Amino acid sequence: MKVWRCMVCGYEHEGEAPPETCPICGVGPEEFMIKNNGVNRQSTAIKRWKCTVCDYIHTGDEPPESCPLCGVGKELFVLLEEKYSELDLQVIADTDLNTLRAALNKISYGLYIITSIKENKHNGMCANTVFQLTDNPPRIAVCVNKNNLTHDYIEYSGVIAISILGREHMPAIKHFGHRSGRKSDKFAEVDYLPAANGCPILRDCIAYLEAQIIPEKTTDVGTHTLFVADVTSGRTVQNEEELTYAYYRQNR
Ligand SMILES: Cc1cc2nc3c(=O)[nH]c(=O)nc-3n(C[C@H](O)[C@H](O)[C@H](O)COP(=O)(O)O)c2cc1C
Repeated sequence: MKVWRCMVCGYEHEGEAPPETCPICGVGPEEFMIKNNGVNRQSTAIKRWKCTVCDYIHTGDEPPESCPLCGVGKELFVLLEEKYSELDLQVIADTDLNTLRAALNKISYGLYIITSIKENKHNGMCANTVFQLTDNPPRIAVCVNKNNLTHDYIEYSGVIAISILGREHMPAIKHFGHRSGRKSDKFAEVDYLPAANGCPILRDCIAYLEAQIIPEKTTDVGTHTLFVADVTSGRTVQNEEELTYAYYRQNR
């Protein structure tokens, strides 16, 4: 019997096809992924669990009842990754949401502060989804959650600046990425300069870009907007190593 897993809420359905709608969260069959292809066998996966309090790593199908280092319960363990002794069709068919997320975490990113302006106000947020689309013309895309204040500012002004971060900028991730400019002025105690388009750039960034949004190429992608923008100016400020998402995860 095939097992189908709802990608939204995790509900599992047994049958030849996914259900018309998920009885738990109501989404359609397109949100279901096959979990086992009708073959029941021992998984070849090796799971690693990390204690979110002390970073202790445990290997096994389940997290330990309690952490041997700091003593917290298994609910404070997160699945870090699954390693497979071999990749075969059954392993591919066994993919579930956690496995898929762990694989998505293997995509490499840099980390950036995207800023924009609205009238005489400015704001910025941390983002990993900044990437170059074309070299000629120099064109980039940034993917921004519609709930973010920076999203409102970008829609309003059509201009952005990107401060490219180095490894020294770990505190900036928290500052710009863990709270919204709706609650406080994030630039109140930050050393910045206005770019030619008016958006703030961090004075100690390792490089910056200024860009103009192209509305007709910008796309609604659900929770986020994928803004496409032409780069109008940019400069390397310091020859330091770029901060990657992987480095941030390992050292936060
Ligand atoms: C490491 C990291 C990466 C992030 N990447 C993105 C991203 O690519 N897109 C996005 O919309 N939000 C991203 N965020 C979340 C925003 O930075 C966060 O929601 C921020 O508080 C929004 O601020 P604002 O409301 O002032 O615009 C990221 C946060 C962190 C910590």
